[in-house]
Amino acid sequence: MFSRRVPPTLTPNRLALRVAELRSRGVSILDLTSTNPTAVDIPYPPRLLDSLAGPVPQTYSPQPFGLAEARRAVAADYRRRGVDVPVERIALTASTSEAYAFLFKLLCNAGDEVLVPQPSYPILEHLTVLEAVTAVSYPLVYTGRWHIDLTALEQCLTPRTRAIVVVSPNNPTGSLLCSDEARRLVELCGARNLGLILDEVFADYVVRESRDNGASPLLSQTEALVFSLGGLSKTVGLPQLKLAWLALGGPPNLVDAALARLEVICDAYLSVGTAVQCAASRFFAEGGAVRDAIRDRVQRNLKTLRLRVAEAPACNALPVEGGWSAVVRVAATRSEETLVLELLEGQHVLVHPGFFYDFTHEAFFVMSLLLREQVFEEGCVRLFRSLRGTRSL
Ligand SMILES: Cc1ncc(COP(=O)(O)O)c(C=O)c1O
Repeated sequence: MFSRRVPPTLTPNRLALRVAELRSRGVSILDLTSTNPTAVDIPYPPRLLDSLAGPVPQTYSPQPFGLAEARRAVAADYRRRGVDVPVERIALTASTSEAYAFLFKLLCNAGDEVLVPQPSYPILEHLTVLEAVTAVSYPLVYTGRWHIDLTALEQCLTPRTRAIVVVSPNNPTGSLLCSDEARRLVELCGARNLGLILDEVFADYVVRESRDNGASPLLSQTEALVFSLGGLSKTVGLPQLKLAWLALGGPPNLVDAALARLEVICDAYLSVGTAVQCAASRFFAEGGAVRDAIRDRVQRNLKTLRLRVAEAPACNALPVEGGWSAVVRVAATRSEETLVLELLEGQHVLVHPGFFYDFTHEAFFVMSLLLREQVFEEGCVRLFRSLRGTRSL
């Protein structure tokens, strides 16, 4: 009865089953995976959400790309990051996930292909399947830092490829797109008429400011059609508001053609609530305090991680260039799944195995850097204590 866009089986994975079982027995688990900023005691400015109760017009006036004042607020926020985008090139969506869905509708027919980074955010696979599109993974390789294997990426291109997705900073590797990679991707997309989808939801959380960041100039170049994605869920740490956006850049004729078609898609959904749009500029105005609190949290936890990981010589915390996650390489003495289950059962600590993010080999753990400092430290102590005896990577 059901389409192949939804999974054929809905059984939770072994890790989720074991977590549920332990919790049902009253076991308290130190969860090192939460990336929900509203659940980890980030100090938000008091009464921040009261802006939602501000004046909202009684008359509904549907605007496919969103209210002009909210789009202006998004344009102003790009300017804060040093990027100039005309308001007319900005469209609002309820979430970044929805923005991806709209772009797949815009660019792909059923069965077309979109290149996605590997390892990366697992929802990309679901979002493509839900749009009847095939995600084809291109590898990020780690050689002291993560970078795109451009040769492998080019080998993934087929006549059915419609777009390339880049996530910068990437989740969970934290890696940034560098200028050389950005230049090559623009060349490829321009020459082959592909869309370049740039997920910049973590752009405000660059840890190493000195590294060259190739994402910023992409909206102002005129060689390839580029879509930059962002949202309040990360920029102001408020995922519950459901306000995200798309900004377009590239050859003016292509941008105009894309906007005209995107308008048809957005008009069919009109999914962004009016109250959040009316309050958008106030959320942006208060966003700095939230970002500072999150950055401070990430920096403190990174420091703890570096200190604690040194106690387990067979473990290695990979450098973080941005984002809210850390990747720890551990000796593959057993499968990642077994290692993570042992940690859960023996230490009551939950981390994500690398295979959740499609790492090309084992063994990696992924942990959130957003957690309360005491929780993160206690988790690290238990984690690295249990791995201390392990010999080599
Ligand atoms: C890289 C990346 N893109 C997009 C999203 C989704 O963001 P949104 O809450 O705006 O849908 C996430 C969520 O964690 C993410 O990690």
